[in-house]
Amino acid sequence: MGDETRMTTAHESVLVIGASRGLGEAIVETYAGRGAKVVGTVRGGGLTLLHEFAGRREGVVEIEHVDIDEPDALEALAERLSGRSFDLLFVVAGISLAPMEQIAAEVATEDFVRMMVTNALSVIRTVERLQHLVDPTGTIAVMSSGQGSIANNGSAGFEVYRATKSALNQLMRSYSVRHAVDDRALLLLAPGWVKTEMGGPRAKLEIGDSIPALVDTVEAQRGKPGLQYLDRNGATLPW
Ligand SMILES: NC(=O)c1ccc[n+]([C@@H]2O[C@H](COP(=O)([O-])OP(=O)(O)OC[C@H]3O[C@@H](n4cnc5c(N)ncnc54)[C@H](OP(=O)(O)O)[C@@H]3O)[C@@H](O)[C@H]2O)c1
Repeated sequence: MGDETRMTTAHESVLVIGASRGLGEAIVETYAGRGAKVVGTVRGGGLTLLHEFAGRREGVVEIEHVDIDEPDALEALAERLSGRSFDLLFVVAGISLAPMEQIAAEVATEDFVRMMVTNALSVIRTVERLQHLVDPTGTIAVMSSGQGSIANNGSAGFEVYRATKSALNQLMRSYSVRHAVDDRALLLLAPGWVKTEMGGPRAKLEIGDSIPALVDTVEAQRGKPGLQYLDRNGATLPW
């Protein structure tokens, strides 16, 4: 996918963490299509969709490596990127390990911990460790979910996944309080239910229905300091 028609972007240099496939890879394609230089990260040594795309956009898309659950790997990435500057840091990596109908009390403790670590702790660690690379007037975005909204939870389902995204929202809120005088835009984003490996085939949206709109929303927030929790169309979500 990709939006090859618009060639302007408010974020000309972009770092996407968790870009091997799915929404992260599509964000790389969309920003590259709009004229940005993009670094996207993968983990492991295998070839991914991002490698395929980067091969077609040499000089535009660069591939880096990090497993955000490994503090040493995050540290090594920060060191490799030291001295560089990005207009946008977008942390997209996330996992969902339990089926929709499994209530929280029945999820294996190990899966609960893995989901909470990757989706909440590792994401905020990534923001903390890489934030100095972001231009002082740039944007830090993280992929939350509409399911992270406590106020909007009227259906249960994916109970632990929901809780990890609520925790992520709370951690970003603390970050924003500690950085209240920063000029950066801070974004928690909800892409909608999208057909990816995580979203599954029953999801309502194709990647192309979600990501160009979500990128438009990110673009519109540059220069607006403070934390916002937004859906792909820019509507504010209740906490
Ligand atoms: N799809 C939806 O309907 C939906 C809705 C709301 C929110 N979201 C959120 O959007 C984000 C992307 O989801 P998706 O649908 O694109 O899922 P996906 O297709 O399963 O892709 C997940 C991505 O996260 C990466 N990742 C997972 N754990 C990682 C780790 N420890 N370190 C580095 N990268 C890691 C994966 O890398 P590997 O290839 O190496 O596994 C992959 O690139 C997630 O945060 C998800 O919670 C998705």
